[in-house]
Amino acid sequence: MNRVYIKTYGCQMNERDSEAVASQLVARGYRMVAREDEADIVLLNTCSVRDQAEQKAIGKMGYLARRKRRDPHFVIGFMGCMAQNRGAELLERLPDVDLIVGTQRFHHVPDYLDSLTAPRVEGAPVPSSIVDTEDEAGSQNTIREHLPDRKRVSAFVSIMQGCNMACTFCIVPRTRGRERGRPIEEIVREVEGLAAQGTREVTLLGQIVTSYGRGEIPAKDGKSPFVQLLERINAIDGIERIRFTSPHPRGFNADLVAAYRDLPKLCEYVHLPLQSGSDRMLRSMNRPYSIGKYLEIVASLRDSVPNMYFSTDIIVGFPGETEEDFRATREVFEEVGFDMAYIFKYSKRSGTPAETMDDQVPAAVKEARNQELLSLLHGQSESRNRSLLGTFQEVLVEGRARKGDHFTGRTRGNRMTHFDAGERLVGQLAPVRIERATASSLYGSLVLSGVESKREAALAGAPGSHC
Ligand code: SAH
Ligand code: F3S
Repeated sequence: MNRVYIKTYGCQMNERDSEAVASQLVARGYRMVAREDEADIVLLNTCSVRDQAEQKAIGKMGYLARRKRRDPHFVIGFMGCMAQNRGAELLERLPDVDLIVGTQRFHHVPDYLDSLTAPRVEGAPVPSSIVDTEDEAGSQNTIREHLPDRKRVSAFVSIMQGCNMACTFCIVPRTRGRERGRPIEEIVREVEGLAAQGTREVTLLGQIVTSYGRGEIPAKDGKSPFVQLLERINAIDGIERIRFTSPHPRGFNADLVAAYRDLPKLCEYVHLPLQSGSDRMLRSMNRPYSIGKYLEIVASLRDSVPNMYFSTDIIVGFPGETEEDFRATREVFEEVGFDMAYIFKYSKRSGTPAETMDDQVPAAVKEARNQELLSLLHGQSESRNRSLLGTFQEVLVEGRARKGDHFTGRTRGNRMTHFDAGERLVGQLAPVRIERATASSLYGSLVLSGVESKREAALAGAPGSHC
């Protein structure tokens, strides 16, 4: 009765939360299993950002509830954003659900499962559903455990929770609450611990990481708390690469732009959510920057690091978006030349200001605009990848590919790379000569069979590695 399967929807924050819950459950004597049909307990860690993500999880739970009706000992629960957003209301539609735990209460899951699975005498009443979506001060500090016994070359580290912005389309401030950062020392200790266990790359996570520590940690030498944190992590031995997501364009001041130049471990890949290329739309979305300002940030980052890779988030079909607004988005999309992008069709979220805005855009128009940007992206991404043909890229070897015998890893620009290697190179930085490129992946060969470390790779004079 103690085999648990967690299915995760949505973003990397959710992946990280699921992992922390899994690790707490393992510590409590539960066993994590890889397949839902092997589990006695199934938890869905949910996403609310778009309606489709909620519908998927609800559909899945309906399916699980059918199994529960045959097997009353089977335990099913919702965690995370949709649990927070909808709470007990979910029970009206899905009365068989045992557990609903919101985004600030993940660390109580082991206790709740203990009580739901406690042995009961025959005929005793079945425990009623547990719903907990309370706010809890300090809950951002509870997401720190990592699953033991797994070599983790690249790890996610949660540095903050919540968002104080008020983008008119976004439900995150409601599902994740106000901004709360973890103390710098605690994050540094976590990353040092990861490095000691073999982690080489960390991705710092939060809903708006560039606001990390704002109002809590004073600026030092003109550097924001976030940049101070990056500097501390850059100094940790064993860590070779730093990434972060998701920032906000307004956080890209001179100190952060300079960090890309000055901190060798900070990879030249930036996710810079644009949302729309039209100033009129940005105002209506309550995004506090103009296209002019956005392009200035892009230019300053390129000045700082000429081979920077850019990724973004775009929403098409926001209420009131005209052909002209969309054309402006297309233009900015091409002008920046994004290498990667998450393109979303606007989805109405209840309780957000955009929900009741006039001029909602028809689904077919959203779909067409979505396809148009996807095809632009495909071309841009492919041509950037093709520009790497014949070059040497520094790849962090992550492990064997899920399918096939070869190995995979990523370049500093976050491009997935496939190559032949040996187990002993896992966790190493290795130069790969790029021989084939598609829009999504690079294929190549390791340059030196004996390369053991970044230093040797650098000595071998691998161009393109600038770590
Ligand atoms: N900073 C946050 C952003 C949250 S949502 C983070 O990365 O965690 C991620 C992206 O989803 C947003 O940048 C936006 O492009 C998209 N998004 C948010 N609400 C949306 C909605 N109602 N409809 C469509 N896309 C949305
Ligand atoms: Fe959402 Fe805007 Fe914050 S997109 S997470 S309210 S910056």
